Amino acid sequence: MKKAFITGVTGQDGSYLADLLIKKGYQVYGLTRRTSTQNFARIKHLIHNPRLELVSGDLIDQHSLTNALHDVKPDEIYNLAAQSFVKASWEQPVLTGEFTAIGVTRMLDAMRLACPDARFYQASSSEMFGKVREVPQTEQTPFYPRSPYGVAKVYGHWITVNYRESFQMFAVSGILFNHESPRRGLEFVTRKIANGVARVKLGKQSVVELGNLKAKRDWGYAPDYVQAMWLMLQQDQPEDYVVATGQNHSVREFLELACQAAELDDWQAIYQHNPLYDRPAEVDVLVGDASKARRQLGWEPSVTFAELVTLMVEAELELERQNGEE
Ligand code: NAP
Ligand code: GDD
Repeated sequence: MKKAFITGVTGQDGSYLADLLIKKGYQVYGLTRRTSTQNFARIKHLIHNPRLELVSGDLIDQHSLTNALHDVKPDEIYNLAAQSFVKASWEQPVLTGEFTAIGVTRMLDAMRLACPDARFYQASSSEMFGKVREVPQTEQTPFYPRSPYGVAKVYGHWITVNYRESFQMFAVSGILFNHESPRRGLEFVTRKIANGVARVKLGKQSVVELGNLKAKRDWGYAPDYVQAMWLMLQQDQPEDYVVATGQNHSVREFLELACQAAELDDWQAIYQHNPLYDRPAEVDVLVGDASKARRQLGWEPSVTFAELVTLMVEAELELERQNGEE
């Protein structure tokens, strides 16, 4: 039985990846950090599944990572843990650098010492393209990050390349464009809109407060994207890949479609601008070219933008109905 080690297993992607790998017959080990209240909502359906074992550790604690990999001796390592919210990276730039940048070196070095023959996946990001140098963005597009998070991800990307080239380790980066789902954190714009629109529909709130409606993102469906991560580690050679749908839409379009999905007539009636959600430096337009992933991995997205918006709004309507009146 193959063994996989996932950092960030309590997050959106980690939880879907754990589902996928368990379905594929893996024994999965998920790194979790100590918190005063347990944060297992996204993996609650797996908590009593013997195929998932939780291992204590933190990206900031080198020994916990080396010990964990030494004990588990995994075949595959997926480094998904990070401070992943771009807006928070201006408020906590040093912590973002510790987790999202140096945390990658800690994981790579733990692997080098404990299980150098394992295969390593690094969660790189389209946010590295930032103020984009070309459209669409490919594996060759130069990086121009626009946030402390983006800068930290560029570091994580290059240290992964460097360990691959220095120590002949099987280490790859997936440069993933935005991917969403009902398991997305509530602070990210798609889930925030889907939830806000559902709450307006059910009479629980009257407006949705947002920042910049003009920003465009290439939004896909998270379960499709964890499939791409797994495929990258099954290849003969370690290479980096862009994963994207190839189409982008504005935040405003997401809001309009979400209102339609909830049968609310006028999106402008429920939208309110709040400068609190504007960013010191914005990434205006992202759109990826995933030709290499399509060609070499046989990967393709299965959910359209309209389907994504609808499934997220329906999930929030269901959730808010279950939560009852306030
Ligand atoms: P997420 O939902 O925010 O999950 C982040 C995970 O990292 C959580 O499990 C969190 O644990 C864990 N974590 C944070 N700091 C940690 C630390 N110091 N030690 C150990 N664990 C720590 O993020 P996601 O959307 O699943 O994204 C997964 C990865 O892909 C991230 O690296 C993200 O930057 C990257 N990425 C995401 C997207 C996207 O569109 N979703 C696109 C490109 C790249 P807690 O539950 O304890 O907080
Ligand atoms: N979060 C948020 N909240 N974003 C808003 C809001 C709001 O109220 N109003 C407008 N936006 C705009 C942001 O300014 C940004 O341009 C866009 O919506 C998307 O914001 P997020 O959903 O927070 O995602 P992100 O693109 O900044 O970052 C996500 O994708 C990256 C890949 O490109 C995260 O998942 C990162 O971890 C990931 O690397």
